[in-house]
Amino acid sequence: MTKPTAAMRQAIAEAEVGDDVWGEDPTVNKLETYAAAILGKPSAMFVPSGTMANQISIRELTNPGEEMIVEADAHIVHYENGAASALAGIQPALLKGERGILTPEQIENAIRIPDIHAPPTTLICLENTHNRAGGTIYSIETISEIHNIASSKNIAMHLDGARLFNAACATGISAKHYASHFETVAFCLSKGLGAPIGSMIVSSNERISRMRRIRKMYGGGMRQAGILAAAGLYALEHNIPKLHDDHKHAKLLSLNLEEIPGIGIDSTATQTNIVVFDVGSVSKNPDKLVDTLRNEGVLVSRFTSTTFRAVMHLDITEEDVLYAIQVLKRTLSQTN
Ligand SMILES: Cc1ncc(COP(=O)(O)O)c(C=O)c1O
Repeated sequence: MTKPTAAMRQAIAEAEVGDDVWGEDPTVNKLETYAAAILGKPSAMFVPSGTMANQISIRELTNPGEEMIVEADAHIVHYENGAASALAGIQPALLKGERGILTPEQIENAIRIPDIHAPPTTLICLENTHNRAGGTIYSIETISEIHNIASSKNIAMHLDGARLFNAACATGISAKHYASHFETVAFCLSKGLGAPIGSMIVSSNERISRMRRIRKMYGGGMRQAGILAAAGLYALEHNIPKLHDDHKHAKLLSLNLEEIPGIGIDSTATQTNIVVFDVGSVSKNPDKLVDTLRNEGVLVSRFTSTTFRAVMHLDITEEDVLYAIQVLKRTLSQTN
């Protein structure tokens, strides 16, 4: 939902470009070098979307007929059209997390015992922050324990870190430290960081070279992509500290929603920039809620029949949040 700022548009306009399919776009190369450095990995690759970043990683880390452990409400499960099964031939083993967070014990119990009948577990995917759980964060200790289990059994780890910098901002733990536990990390330059298009995968040199081929196979090879990379680079250089404001705004919204009788929300679950709330006991007409709010300039998306998501980003001010709270209070009493 973000719009590029004038300064970001300026960076786009001035970008030096070349053909990135041939590795000759200087701005893409600069972005990839920068992203690899801040994530502490040898190499990085620019891709059009977070979905493609996840799917290229899954394809790289698995073989058809194997199994990956993934949280049941993960983006990879809900919103990627079954791509891991369709494109990588992978069977997902779905585990339900507490607020989207899996425990090391759950994962250990779900790893297949080698058996001629069983699809071998070869990949564990974690999502940090977790979108459908409302932007919740994995503790670094949990990730580290999961990593120890995975490496003792030769299982790869992929991080869907679409909002990894939100986790880093909220905890003070560097994105690099989080990334050190995973073979591949995907993160988005769009969303909270404010670029119009683009995501990154970071990994080893060998994996990134193989994944360049998979990106081409998936139709993600781009030509003069430097105009997009310039926006991504601008986002990484300027917009990471701004995520703190988004977290403050989300907390303000969720604390206020908690005051409205009947709204189902636990503000302790609001850990970053996403607010998920349930209107089941106040609104008799949740079907109309998205449109009614949109007409008042407040955008929310629907998660289930009665739960909704509001996301903060760099175009939203504190006044906007206060306005949204007023609209929500009024609207929810009207739809009763
Ligand atoms: C956790 C998570 N992963 C991946 C994605 C996919 O990103 P994209 O929309 O760029 O494909 C999203 C998008 O909302 C997301 O929330």
